[in-house]
Amino acid sequence: MGKILVTGGAGFIGSHTCVELLDAGYEVVVMDNLSNSKEAVIQRIEKIAGKPVDFFKGDICCAEDCETVFSQFAIDAVVHFAGYKAVGESVEKPLMYYNNNIGGSVTLLEAMQKHNCKRIVFSSSATVYGMNNEAPYTEDMPTSATNPYGYTKVMIEQILRDVCVSDGDFSAVALRYFNPIGAHKSGLLGEDPNGIPNNLVPYIAKVASGKLECLGVFGDDYDTPDGTGVRDYIHVTDLAKGHVCAIDYAMKNKGFEAVNLGTGNGSSVLQVVEAYEKACGKAIPKKITPRRAGDIAVSYADASKALELFGWSAKADINEMCEDSWNFTKLNPAGII
Ligand code: NAD
Ligand code: UD1
Repeated sequence: MGKILVTGGAGFIGSHTCVELLDAGYEVVVMDNLSNSKEAVIQRIEKIAGKPVDFFKGDICCAEDCETVFSQFAIDAVVHFAGYKAVGESVEKPLMYYNNNIGGSVTLLEAMQKHNCKRIVFSSSATVYGMNNEAPYTEDMPTSATNPYGYTKVMIEQILRDVCVSDGDFSAVALRYFNPIGAHKSGLLGEDPNGIPNNLVPYIAKVASGKLECLGVFGDDYDTPDGTGVRDYIHVTDLAKGHVCAIDYAMKNKGFEAVNLGTGNGSSVLQVVEAYEKACGKAIPKKITPRRAGDIAVSYADASKALELFGWSAKADINEMCEDSWNFTKLNPAGII
């Protein structure tokens, strides 16, 4: 069917996507510098899929590394996850983010161009809807950002649009993820952040497993049914399947498309806590704290374009997402080692 280069394929979303690509019949080459992941993930992907993965430890910012991969393997298309993703860190170290995320994407695209590889699926984010649009977000809304991480996503989307204008044979799909959570059903793959998590569900998982004491709920005075922030949480396996659809689409179509991957439904912080308590059978201690700077009240997708273009829709509900997150957390007390 084709050989897919997955940059950042050892990471949280990339690893789940490798499994789904292999299941769909694609061959997979992973290029990852392991800056935020472990090589053991590769064996876990192979174990679940029952198929081999070619792993190349390399950096997308390094033209030589990109050249090695494209000359060693006949790559038909790229799924591009590699990048840094912590909003707060991007404010502290903007140049590191612009260099790795934007610089790395440009270097990767140059290698693709040189080797005549003209299909890419890129990890964008709902963060590109900024602060001035109202949910449900549709892909035609204006994009903006409030921090360097967000600007890298806005900018890389623009770079992909420009490459498609310059080359009518090029195909680029920017997938705008909402809030990916959960883990692979096997318990072998999941989210394993270093240090204290910034995101809600990884933080709850650490409280549930006794590693952190209490969840801070960032504000209960938003204009939402229970006052806490509402987000469109999506199971990482549903998200991963969306990438297979996007690759299938990119194989047959040309030009640039931005596509939301979300469920189209929102859950509040308190609803997520309740679902997690049900999944793990324990109470999650919590206290209301001030709002986090930069947070918005409500974010959820209009998910109709993905259904129209790909025939894709998300299946898992918030209970299943929390059950699978807890299963992974229980089975991997020290993370993936
Ligand atoms: P992750 O950190 O688990 O995975 C990213 C992978 O890229 C890691 O394995 C890391 O080692 C690798 N990497 C980073 N820089 C690299 C480089 N220069 N060369 C090679 N490898 C490199 O993150 P994730 O949650 O799987 O996210 C994947 C992508 O999706 C990122 O681009 C992220 O910005 C985007 N995204 C994530 C979320 C989310 O909530 N997780 C939401 C929206 C968008
Ligand atoms: C955050 C990023 C976003 C990024 C996304 C995925 C910010 C401002 N936004 O989105 O750019 O694309 O992660 O990586 O950082 N919450 C708590 N307590 C916590 C953690 C979170 O109450 O300890 C609340 C938040 O206020 C929010 C919800 O939980 O209402 C979800 O937060 P989070 O998981 O961090 O995702 P986003 O803020 O949507």
